[in-house]
Amino acid sequence: MPITRAQVKSKTMVAYILQSYDKTNIYLPDIEVLNKRTFEEMSEKHETVYLKPERGRKSKGIIRICRKEGLYLLRKSEEELEYKFDSKTSLWSSVSKWTSHTRYVIQEGINSLTKDNRYFDFRCHALRINGEWVVGGVCVRLGSPGNIVTTSHIGGTPILLDSLFTDFLDYSKEDQDQVMEKLHDCILNAVNVVSPLYPSNWEFAVDIGLDTDKRVWIYEVNNEPLIRGNFKLLTDQTLYKKIQYLRTIAK
Ligand SMILES: Nc1ncnc2c1ncn2[C@@H]1O[C@H](COP(=O)(O)OP(=O)(O)O)[C@@H](O)[C@H]1O
Ligand SMILES: [Mg+2]
Repeated sequence: MPITRAQVKSKTMVAYILQSYDKTNIYLPDIEVLNKRTFEEMSEKHETVYLKPERGRKSKGIIRICRKEGLYLLRKSEEELEYKFDSKTSLWSSVSKWTSHTRYVIQEGINSLTKDNRYFDFRCHALRINGEWVVGGVCVRLGSPGNIVTTSHIGGTPILLDSLFTDFLDYSKEDQDQVMEKLHDCILNAVNVVSPLYPSNWEFAVDIGLDTDKRVWIYEVNNEPLIRGNFKLLTDQTLYKKIQYLRTIAK
């Protein structure tokens, strides 16, 4: 039976490649394979960390841990409950149990937050047209209030970039241009570096966060990107149709 693309989706392999090149390493939040040692180090070093199944998708099984006033606050992507721990020992004892079924990575958390504290990220679709990688479209995924992830499968809403910048961030035109320039550089660097791993793939999607200092950060690169749960849900179908068309000529 042939090996399918879904079987080679691995966050550690992609992160390894991204960190090997300066042009992508600058956009990569600190990331390690999760174990007791990396958990101790990363949760000491960063106020917020995200734990993600290395072969996860649709934000399933994601855990966020924030350090606040001597406590560790833990949230899971599919639950509204907030767990509180007063020691790292009790925290690790639960975390190791919840993550024991599969390999996880631990990543520095990015405060990609709107002015009313909703998480958002960019879903960036890239395609290879005439041998060159181009950005086919970028949309914003806006998490529902209080959620720790942005996907539409868990309450998020895809919106247009303009709406993010004007309604949710109050960015000036100059700020927007600067962010868009960084975003395009980040997307194209990421696909140029990751695509040789999957030579027959002619499309990828890069999930990217934007912190409060206007820096962009790669969360992951998807090698089997779907557009139904994001671009198709936009009220304006222009980008969805554009990507559908580009898919017919990409190779
Ligand atoms: N380092 C991070 N900081 C903040 N939010 C993150 C981070 N990594 C992931 N997320 C959130 O979790 C979601 C899912 O993570 P992602 O790495 O894209 O995995 P999946 O394969 O489940 O899509 C992202 O869309 C984003 O909302
Ligand atoms: Mg993702």
